Amino acid sequence: VRFAAVIPAAGRGVRLGPGAPKALRALNGTPMLVHAVRAMAASRAVCLVVVVAPPDGAAEVRTLLDAHPLADRDSTRTDVLVVPGGATRQESVHLGLKALPDDITAVLVHDAARPLVPVDTVDAVAAAVRAGAPAVVPALPLTDTVKQVEPRTGEPEPVVATPERSLLRAVQTPQGFDRATLVKAHETVALDGEGATDDAGMVERLGVPVVVVPGHEEAFKVTRPLDLVLAEAVLARRRA
Ligand code: C5P
Repeated sequence: VRFAAVIPAAGRGVRLGPGAPKALRALNGTPMLVHAVRAMAASRAVCLVVVVAPPDGAAEVRTLLDAHPLADRDSTRTDVLVVPGGATRQESVHLGLKALPDDITAVLVHDAARPLVPVDTVDAVAAAVRAGAPAVVPALPLTDTVKQVEPRTGEPEPVVATPERSLLRAVQTPQGFDRATLVKAHETVALDGEGATDDAGMVERLGVPVVVVPGHEEAFKVTRPLDLVLAEAVLARRRA
């Protein structure tokens, strides 16, 4: 099994506030995307990283990655490709998949917005794919209770249901797939024209089984300003 990691990094990151595209913002002086690429390259399973850049930003991202080399141990065996992305996350991943060389047989899809995922989590996902699972997601139990509502703006929203919390999982990345399964999902769902918020969800629609392995607290998604504070604290603790 030869793994490539596809990193969609074409989002604007509006929820984080005004500024550069989210993936290019710094955490302790290093762009989030660089942390994410290093996190993938740190896994011995990964031999290629495909970064999906903002549609008009591929050259800028290439320059940025060249200025922040991988650790020596990684750079000798991990290639990094940069391709332009699309208007949605789904389209960006699809464009990344189209850039994969023929010898790649399995894929990890990892959000640039999860820069601090530990290598053990990456390895656990890769190991489950290698053991034969066509689709694998890392996930954690929820701490908050979740309500389904009837969405309203400007007034209190009626609650429709409270799913049993112990049966729910919050899903992270990298999500791991057999390459053919993921490509088929992207080709099929693209025809539906429906938006999917994760790749495993598209595979589920094909009727292919998806399994969950334990995720990690440090694989959280940097979405809002408070997440930046947390991410910098995690990095500081790692260096201590
Ligand atoms: O918006 P969300 O937080 O779900 O984005 C998850 C990941 O998808 C981020 O790494 C973001 O850069 C990426 N993305 C993308 N292309 C888009 C939108 C989001 O690659 N058009």
